[in-house]
Amino acid sequence: MGERIINFGVIGCGLMGREFASAAARWNHLLSRDVCPRIIAACDTSSAVLSEFCAANPGVRGYADYRELLAQADVEALYIAVPHNLHTEAYIAAINAGKHFLGEKPFGIDRAANQQILSALSKRPDLLVRCSSEFPFFPGAQKIIALAHAGKMGRILEVRCGLLHSSDMDPLKPINWKRRIATNGEYGCMGDLGMHAVHVPLRLGYVPRDVRAMLTKVVKTRPDGKGGEAPCETWDNALLACTVGSSPDDEFPMLLEMKRIAPGHVNTWYLEISGTAMSARFSTRFPRTLELLPYERGKPQAWHVQDLGYESAYPAITGGIFEFGFPDAIQQMWAAFCDELANGPSGMKQPFRCVTPRETELSHLLFDAALRSAGQDMVIRVE
Ligand SMILES: NC(=O)c1ccc[n+]([C@@H]2O[C@H](COP(=O)([O-])OP(=O)(O)OC[C@H]3O[C@@H](n4cnc5c(N)ncnc54)[C@H](O)[C@@H]3O)[C@@H](O)[C@H]2O)c1
Repeated sequence: MGERIINFGVIGCGLMGREFASAAARWNHLLSRDVCPRIIAACDTSSAVLSEFCAANPGVRGYADYRELLAQADVEALYIAVPHNLHTEAYIAAINAGKHFLGEKPFGIDRAANQQILSALSKRPDLLVRCSSEFPFFPGAQKIIALAHAGKMGRILEVRCGLLHSSDMDPLKPINWKRRIATNGEYGCMGDLGMHAVHVPLRLGYVPRDVRAMLTKVVKTRPDGKGGEAPCETWDNALLACTVGSSPDDEFPMLLEMKRIAPGHVNTWYLEISGTAMSARFSTRFPRTLELLPYERGKPQAWHVQDLGYESAYPAITGGIFEFGFPDAIQQMWAAFCDELANGPSGMKQPFRCVTPRETELSHLLFDAALRSAGQDMVIRVE
């Protein structure tokens, strides 16, 4: 089978840039490889990070300035994984350079920044631009998404989705850019973790019409790494109570949780949908366990616990009895991006696409309303 190679540039070679490089380097993990990413260029303003990235990925050309990378004619597509304050300038520069890209969330530090990106994008409908979100590629999540799409849940009673971390429990963890408003944004943990909570609900059409946000700041200062203390300005935890639906006949509550200080959770992404015909829940805490409760009148209401193996959206070499993990979800997300780039939205090998720019816009409308809700202590209508 002929393989279409997509030449990639990576802008931002930190935590996430390296994950893409790892996924691309083991593309032989996938069974069907009609399209294949090849990283040929990388940019990071930290020379230490850039040289480490280039050393780990032989043959990659390194650039200290992303504008130099964007000028490379042989770079067709990009992964942009830089701090939130740089999203607008980097994403718009990529659009103006005519490059396809997968950009990291929140896709603009705030709503105005997101609108600027989407406005630049509206002039280039020829480009494939998507936002990163990998957890829905876990097999358990894919099963629930398919059941919900097929209408198997009945009337939706309640939806819960969230991402929970706990490393910030440690008050002595040094400050980094994710804890500062200037670099992470006013959204705080919503900008950092929020896309993970909203991707599946938005994809299933569960668009919040209002929100009551409970935002908390727990740790006020953190070590600055130079012997002093720095203000820790951003929201640590967010709980968004939303109403979905337009009439009393179809509305339901949706709880979205994004927390940096959730005791005991290393990196827990979960999805729970309760419905009149079926309820379903999945958590990365138990990555092979899918729980379903089909409702039949007069029958016991019992959770069915199913062990899932490696049943990925894009088939892979791993035997069906083995476990699926975070690097696999990252690779599946990249397979979806490359599939859509090579084959178009209607020619994809499976139906689950990466987050669209419109979905990032909906997420910003929600997080912006959530900030106002917390500020005014009120339920706020989401535009
Ligand atoms: N999808 C996920 O699960 C996930 C997880 C963590 C972070 N993220 C997102 O990824 C993005 C980056 O986060 P991270 O955790 O990788 O951060 P990071 O700090 O580990 O890496 C960011 C890199 O960008 C570099 N950089 C800064 N300014 C630059 C510039 N002008 N040009 C080129 N490089 C520059 C930094 O030197 C750093 O190496 C953020 O948008 C974040 O929200 C996504």
